[in-house]
Amino acid sequence: MPAAGPASQPVVSPLTRAAIYLVLSLKPDADASVVRDVAADLAALVRSVGFRDPQSGLCCVLGFGALAWDRLFGGPRPAELHPFKELRADARHAPATPGDLLFHIRAERMDLCFELASRLMDRLADVATSADEVHGFRYFDARDLLGFVDGTENPVDQAAVDAVRIGDEDAAFAGGSYVIVQKYLHDLRAWNALPTETQERIVGRRKLSDIELDDTVKPSYAHNALTTIEENGREMKILRENMPFGRAGEAEFGTYFIGYARSPRTIEQMLENMFIGRPAGNYDRLLDFSRAVTGGLFFVPSADFLDDPPSPGAAG
Ligand code: HEM
Repeated sequence: MPAAGPASQPVVSPLTRAAIYLVLSLKPDADASVVRDVAADLAALVRSVGFRDPQSGLCCVLGFGALAWDRLFGGPRPAELHPFKELRADARHAPATPGDLLFHIRAERMDLCFELASRLMDRLADVATSADEVHGFRYFDARDLLGFVDGTENPVDQAAVDAVRIGDEDAAFAGGSYVIVQKYLHDLRAWNALPTETQERIVGRRKLSDIELDDTVKPSYAHNALTTIEENGREMKILRENMPFGRAGEAEFGTYFIGYARSPRTIEQMLENMFIGRPAGNYDRLLDFSRAVTGGLFFVPSADFLDDPPSPGAAG
């Protein structure tokens, strides 16, 4: 039997057709108890909206940024919670952008996602403002707007839980996870001007069939080479729930990257490999066609923590 422990938020959930990624900034004079009350009511709010169509699998994950943590909860901090680390190399830049709360809302139907986001904002409008809101959609067979299937090598079942769920390494926050988000905009015209074979070498997989390139032909700068990392001889996995978004009339084509892990170091190492290179200079060519415009790191506490969040000053 798996070890019992605090219930996790629905980080490991089936892929959906729609998602809203909502990042909020707390107002300087925000009453923190309003946020704690919303956190405690989140599961009930999801039930109220989601029960209208249970098949659609509405779920929501709530994360907190490093600067918001002490203000909201005080007390001990998750061991690895810190602000997103900006990266810069030549023309490549992974900026750190403001954000105190992250709501990752998923469902088969966008209307359910939107209804939940609206209900949340009803409650939070006096204490928080929107820093960024992205509405993502499934694109054909889970492809990104570059045309490649995105998500294939995600861990599943117990492997996914093992990849994202904090255990004994930070016992006070067991059942939690870290999440990093980045909004990317693609230069689709330049990307589509590349021969398909060149695109495949950049991604490291075949475009139509989604089959991985053989190691004998896969370049060391391929995206799936640079994001494969090992620690003590073991491959370190993360769980990605990326989605495309865009505005055709404004030629805006994007991928919202969202990666969950039990340690942010894993994702940070991948980002370093992509932006700086492994070795330095051998960077991810996706970045010649994709620009990161946001960046944030959040801690996702367990569902038990959310149900009854501590307040600064409260004992224990
Ligand atoms: C422009 C943004 C991005 C796009 C369009 C993109 C797209 C893709 C695609 C098409 C794949 C291959 C299929 C798959 O296994 O999912 C992939 C794999 C992967 N990506 Fe990304 N990705 C992006 C950003 C990132 C970032 C920022 C990270 C981590 C920091 C990341 C981590 C990974 C990992 C770990 C894999 C699986 C590697 C493997 O085990 O084969 N990706 N990505």
